[in-house]
Amino acid sequence: MKLFIDTANVEEIKEIASWGILEGVTTNPSLIAKEGRVFKEVIKEITEIVDGPISAEVISLKAAEMVVEAEDLVKIHENIVIKIPMTDEGLKAVKVLSSKGIKTNVTLVFSPSQALMAAKAGATYVSPFLGRLDDIGHTGVELVKEIVEIFDLYLIDTEVIAASIRHSMHVLETAKVGAHIATIPYGVFKQMLKHPLTDSGIDRFLKDWENAVK
Ligand code: E4P
Repeated sequence: MKLFIDTANVEEIKEIASWGILEGVTTNPSLIAKEGRVFKEVIKEITEIVDGPISAEVISLKAAEMVVEAEDLVKIHENIVIKIPMTDEGLKAVKVLSSKGIKTNVTLVFSPSQALMAAKAGATYVSPFLGRLDDIGHTGVELVKEIVEIFDLYLIDTEVIAASIRHSMHVLETAKVGAHIATIPYGVFKQMLKHPLTDSGIDRFLKDWENAVK
């Protein structure tokens, strides 16, 4: 499973990239807005930090306009992936973009049938949102599992990005059901790193070392 970070904060991206485990970045309009910076400048800066797929989302709701936005965004860097919402217009845009060799990430996926249609349109990635499904009493991980099973059954090469991850168990559970990628918020990366037994183990080794013959 590949690990992406789900943020538009360059300091967070730099820190996790420095651990040597980061393979891509996803952003969305809410994450960009939170930074209070110019969209394309942030995306460009991210491409200079991470050498992997960087998702940047379009704002238009009409296919033709999405395509225009996408063609402009991909000029920033060859690693840009265009995030497209899961709508009929979105599917049309994905079809056009995939025929032009532009990579897409179909976002806001909440059902296996949506994922199947996105893949059929030529999406490079689909992003099922676990956390938001859990919030309304569904089981997000089940959605990821079903999508992976369907894609495997039909040898569909669209990759599944487990998105809207809220805690480290989401990462583990989606890894177990075969998600190709997890896009993880900064705080969850920190949770995944820490274990109290690791910390107390280091303390004990260092304390015992004080009494070692050197
Ligand atoms: C995915 O690409 C989205 O940016 C993200 O995972 C949404 O997560 P949220 O439900 O925490 O906003």
